[in-house]
Amino acid sequence: MSMPHIELKSVSVRFADRAGCGRQEALTSVDLKIMEGEVLGIMGESGAGKTTLARVLTGWFTPSRGEVRFNGAPLEKGERRIQMLWQDAASHLNPYFTVERLVGEPLVCFKGLRRERIGKRVGELMDQVGLSLKLLGRKPHELSGGQCQRVGLARVLAADPGVLVCDEPFSGLDVGAQIRIRDLLARINRDAGLTLVVISHDPLPLKPLCHRVAMMKAGGILETGSAQKLLTLHSHPFTR
Ligand SMILES: Nc1ncnc2c1ncn2[C@@H]1O[C@H](COP(=O)(O)OP(=O)(O)O)[C@@H](O)[C@H]1O
Ligand SMILES: [Mg+2]
Repeated sequence: MSMPHIELKSVSVRFADRAGCGRQEALTSVDLKIMEGEVLGIMGESGAGKTTLARVLTGWFTPSRGEVRFNGAPLEKGERRIQMLWQDAASHLNPYFTVERLVGEPLVCFKGLRRERIGKRVGELMDQVGLSLKLLGRKPHELSGGQCQRVGLARVLAADPGVLVCDEPFSGLDVGAQIRIRDLLARINRDAGLTLVVISHDPLPLKPLCHRVAMMKAGGILETGSAQKLLTLHSHPFTR
């Protein structure tokens, strides 16, 4: 079997609780292997530890215990090749920037392109996420939720990642916009070969998208299996 793209070995994350006395474990001894080119769904109720797991996978959090390996080596903080599409993409867009600047900025920061040379690449990214070039002059408040989500997606794709972690990409979108984002993610996986980790508390949009799904509960992974198996009959009673 080939080497996992990302591997978590006995990863735990503990937070000091608000009162400062005692600690709370958001992840407990999580083992997980993510293979190159796969779409892995992460499902679980609110508070199960999904966002914490996303932060560990992207190198935003260093685990309290355990290790995270990327292509066989320890994951470095700020790894460009693993990008995160944050939950509620709109709130992560600078409200004073135009779409052109929002999409162009990561090309300057991550790829070191000169400002006068980014126009062509910005156009390609807009096309990849299905946004009209007419929107380039708009600011986030002049966009719909689905369009903001796509701008967020264009920004992370600008970093030219190999892995994309999407935290609740469907929440807050109407059903039509959910389906369009789901199809877009499927296309990015198929055409660009990007490894995707898609987090959702709602199993419905995961089923047609994911090759495998991991079910989380109380900071642990309860079971992992094909989307077909987990989201249909023979799963753990909690999953069902
Ligand atoms: N920065 C933090 N400080 C303290 N507790 C946190 C922090 N982030 C998350 N938690 C706690 O960890 C648990 C898991 O949270 P989270 O990963 O956000 O779950 P999910 O995304 O599945 O809803 C929750 O109980 C939450 O309150
Ligand atoms: Mg969350």
